[in-house]
Amino acid sequence: MPEPLLKELSKPGRVGISLPEPDVPVKPIDELLGRENLRTEPPPLPEVDQLTVVRHFIRLSQLNYSVDTHFYPLGSCTMKYNPKVNEEVAKLPGFAFLHPLQDEETVQGILKLMKELERMLCEIGGMDACTLQGAAGAQGEFIGLLLVRAWHRYRGEEDKRTRIIVPDSAHGTNPASAARCGFIVESVPSGSDGCIDLSALEKALKPDRNGQLPAAVMVTNPNTLGKFEREIVKVAEITHEAGALLYYDGANLNAIMGKAKPGDMGCDIMHFNLHKTFSTPHGGGGPGSGPVAVKAFLEPFLPVPVIEECDDKLRLSYDRPLSVGRVHSFYGNVLVAVRAYAYILSMGTEGLERVAEDAVLNANYLMHKLAQIFPVAFPGLCKHEFVLSLRQFKHETGIRTWDVAKRLLDYGFYAPTVYFPITVEEAMMVEPTETETKETLDAFVEALKSIFEESHENPQIVRSAPHKTPVSRLDEAKAARELKVRW
Ligand SMILES: Cc1ncc(COP(=O)(O)O)c(C=O)c1O
Repeated sequence: MPEPLLKELSKPGRVGISLPEPDVPVKPIDELLGRENLRTEPPPLPEVDQLTVVRHFIRLSQLNYSVDTHFYPLGSCTMKYNPKVNEEVAKLPGFAFLHPLQDEETVQGILKLMKELERMLCEIGGMDACTLQGAAGAQGEFIGLLLVRAWHRYRGEEDKRTRIIVPDSAHGTNPASAARCGFIVESVPSGSDGCIDLSALEKALKPDRNGQLPAAVMVTNPNTLGKFEREIVKVAEITHEAGALLYYDGANLNAIMGKAKPGDMGCDIMHFNLHKTFSTPHGGGGPGSGPVAVKAFLEPFLPVPVIEECDDKLRLSYDRPLSVGRVHSFYGNVLVAVRAYAYILSMGTEGLERVAEDAVLNANYLMHKLAQIFPVAFPGLCKHEFVLSLRQFKHETGIRTWDVAKRLLDYGFYAPTVYFPITVEEAMMVEPTETETKETLDAFVEALKSIFEESHENPQIVRSAPHKTPVSRLDEAKAARELKVRW
């Protein structure tokens, strides 16, 4: 930064910063960087007026697909509308300008909000204690699995309980988190109804040929096929009989919140995806939040710090001898927690129930309409999402799910999730969410109908899509391997 500007900015009160004199000798810039690396001429920056800059960036922002501009039916991602009031609350200076190293006395407000949010999440999940530290769903899973390990260690069974059982329909992060935590991962198949095959699970719960026992079963309910695991109580029963814990991946909670509680289903540990269910813009790699809630017997193992009440004050306690330790710097992604708190309060109990009802209604309406074009992989009522299979369509036309997804971009729709779950050939996974209108859902159906017709009449237009986006079809493997991050 040029010296005069630095001086100007450092004047007390100028922009609220005052830079201390450095107490280490500062080397001259050419010594630091090497004379040969220094510019000899000023960079050729364009001289443009403010309006041109504004137009440039507004135009760029309009090229982007977002929930605020387009229908975004990305299965398993809950891309719903995030009410702007939550952003306003998170922007309040009392939240936005907090510093994590502030004295506890000065952050009583945010500690209270976090404590209350923990209580609300326990209520929604049917759990007893909660930590807000997870930074995403996947980190929530990792924390949950650390708790599983800590529990078995506490009971002297850590060496025997080394296996985590995961249904084949699970999100990829489930087996990845278990492996990352040092467990052996075993998959159990789904039955023809898309739900866990109980007899396969019963077998998996037995000791393996090395005498190793299951440490936990991870379930997602509704699962990633959009199906409610009707036998969840039985799943919990046989899991517990086998001495294992039941982990609940709460990423799909949008479909059941206020209606059913994982704690009542028999789950011992769960994570929430606050950014999905409780309304934080996500999908662009921004901060998420994956709080973990547990039944009372696992509370002593929760990560530190824990928010505790003491003499009418809230404080962060590290004095937890059985804790799995720290899992995040400071206290988690606190501003996502603020948004979730604002969302829960503004929706209220009835509002949250209505979310689940409308998410399920929209998904069933859309599934019913689309079933007239492409077969549904697991017919019957769904919860928040459903999976279509374009296997037969590909066989008839040579056109893949991939091509249809690309063509949808030309029609102004964000493409649904494709090729997931991997158990369904040519899968297309659609999650409309509760915030979409019937008109939008109908327009999406019409677009897919048109693409279906094009695929028979003019397949090349589908095969070479998209045509209206700033860049046409990319070789994605090449793009990932030979990443160019600048023009
Ligand atoms: C079912 C399920 N579990 C776990 C995750 C992981 O969550 P995150 O992306 O926040 O790590 C997702 C994400 O989409 C999911 O759909």
